[in-house]
Amino acid sequence: MTRKRVGVLISGRGSNLQALLDAAQAPDCPFEIVLVLSNKAKVQGLERAAAAGVATAVIDHRTFPDRETFEMAMTEALEAAGAELVCQAGFMRVVTSWFVTRWHDRLLNIHPSLLPAFPGLDTHERALAAGVKLHGCSVHLVRETVDQGPILGQAAVPVLPGDDAETLAARVLEAEHRLYPACLALYAAGRIDVRGETARLKTAPAPGGLLINPPSPAADA
Ligand code: GRF
Repeated sequence: MTRKRVGVLISGRGSNLQALLDAAQAPDCPFEIVLVLSNKAKVQGLERAAAAGVATAVIDHRTFPDRETFEMAMTEALEAAGAELVCQAGFMRVVTSWFVTRWHDRLLNIHPSLLPAFPGLDTHERALAAGVKLHGCSVHLVRETVDQGPILGQAAVPVLPGDDAETLAARVLEAEHRLYPACLALYAAGRIDVRGETARLKTAPAPGGLLINPPSPAADA
C-alpha cells in the first residue's frame, strides 16, 4: 500500500496534529505525515512532531513582504518533502486564493463548528449565544472563502445545560481528534468523491466514522 504523503500546517498547541500522528502509526493507515510546518517558532506542535520523528520547519510569516511570498515558501517546503495533501490543523493564517488554487482539492482544514454554521472565530461562544442544542466540528476542503468548501465529515456533540465556552470547546476538541484522522484516512484512500463543491463518500463509512452522533442526554441531565 502506498501511503499519501501529508504536510501539516500548525500555529500552536497541535492536539489535532497529535491525533493525525497517532493515527499514522497504524500499519494500515493510508497516510503518513512527512512534514509539520509552523508559522510560529517554539510551539508545542513542533515538539509533538519531533517526538514522533517527523521533520519540522518554521516559516515565520512576518519575515515575508506579503501573504503570497509566505505561501510560496511554504509550498516550496511542502513540495521538497513530497507532500501530496496538506492539512491545516490550528493554522491561524488565512490563505490567499493563490495557495488555495495551488493546492486545489488537496488542502484540508478542521473547523470547530458544524459548518456552514459559525464560520470564523469564537465558535463556541457563538454557539452558546445562539442556543443551539448540537454543536461540533467539520473537516472540509479549503476554498477562497474562509471556512467554506466541500465538507468531508462532521462530528456532532450535545450542548449540555451548564456548559460554558470552555467545557463546550473541550467536548468538541475530543470529537475533532476522532474526526480529523477518520476524514483524512478516507480522503487519502480515495474513498471520497469531490464534485465541484460537494464531497460524497463512495461507500458507507464504518460505524463511528465520518458522522458521529451524540448519545441522547439522560432525561434528568
Ligand atoms: C482546534 O479547535 C481547531 O479546530 C481550530 O483550532 C484549534 C486548534 O487546536 N482550528 P490544536 O492546535 O489542534 O490543539
